[in-house]
Amino acid sequence: MTRVVYVNGRYRPYAQAFVHAEDRGFQFGDAVYEVCEVMGGGIVDMERHLARLQRSLAELQMPMPMSLKALEVVLHQTVRRNRVRDGLVYLQVSRGAGPRDFAFPADGTPPTVVCLARSQPPGRAAAQAEIGISVVTLPDIRWKRCDIKTVMLLPAVLAKREAARQGAKEAWLVDEGGYITEGASSNAWIVTSGGELVTRALSHALLPGVTRATVMDAIAREGLGIAERSFTVDEARVAREAFVTSATNTVMPVVRIDGVPVGDGKPGAVSLKLRKIFREVARWTA
Ligand code: PDD
Repeated sequence: MTRVVYVNGRYRPYAQAFVHAEDRGFQFGDAVYEVCEVMGGGIVDMERHLARLQRSLAELQMPMPMSLKALEVVLHQTVRRNRVRDGLVYLQVSRGAGPRDFAFPADGTPPTVVCLARSQPPGRAAAQAEIGISVVTLPDIRWKRCDIKTVMLLPAVLAKREAARQGAKEAWLVDEGGYITEGASSNAWIVTSGGELVTRALSHALLPGVTRATVMDAIAREGLGIAERSFTVDEARVAREAFVTSATNTVMPVVRIDGVPVGDGKPGAVSLKLRKIFREVARWTA
């Protein structure tokens, strides 16, 4: 349960944690965010998440709302005040509030900063990883700067709803060339029928996942090869293994794509190995 929410310098009781009705995040989606995993009360890969937040802000010409050190304090305080051992911490920064106007607000308009933390049963993702998840492929209808982690999540919301309607947990989004860009809220990976580990190269088309980066470290540590290239839906359907990466699920095996079993329909060996090694490689800040 979320007890308190950080809003603009104050820790408010959940029921009284408000932002202004004319907040630009609310009116224009003019805001960026991060979601970090909390494990044993510590924050996983916090530095990488804050580095990405800093980059998202810079790409949108938004100033940092406070120093990196101060943001770290807010994240840790929010986790501690909500007594979260295992779960997630969410941080959002918007361009602030003001009378609705497409133009940027006047210099000096304070950004809106919100941070909340929530517990999640620690065994839930692990239990899911044992059986894996199903994904469905859907057209990628998002904008052309998906490398920026903005709160403009309506395409993801609709894709998740359609995935759920089809009995799947995640949607893999497909670009106009028939290539998978990423999941609605995760990065997409396959191990091809030839044994090649593949994930799409970074570009404006997809989010540079923090978990993706840490899994890359794990792959390098194990001396496994990796091909950063685009792959088609057809290639994914005949893959030996598939998985997704995200802060909340780390490495999650994919066992069905559009109802077709991946490999033998069970979580693959490489996926499970990377899931295990992730814990040894990820940085964890108490
Ligand atoms: N989603 N791609 C998209 C579109 C995402 O929304 C996410 C994360 C990822 C994986 O990034 P990371 O490994 O840094 O979590 C990739 C978060 C978890 C969310 O919106 O809830």
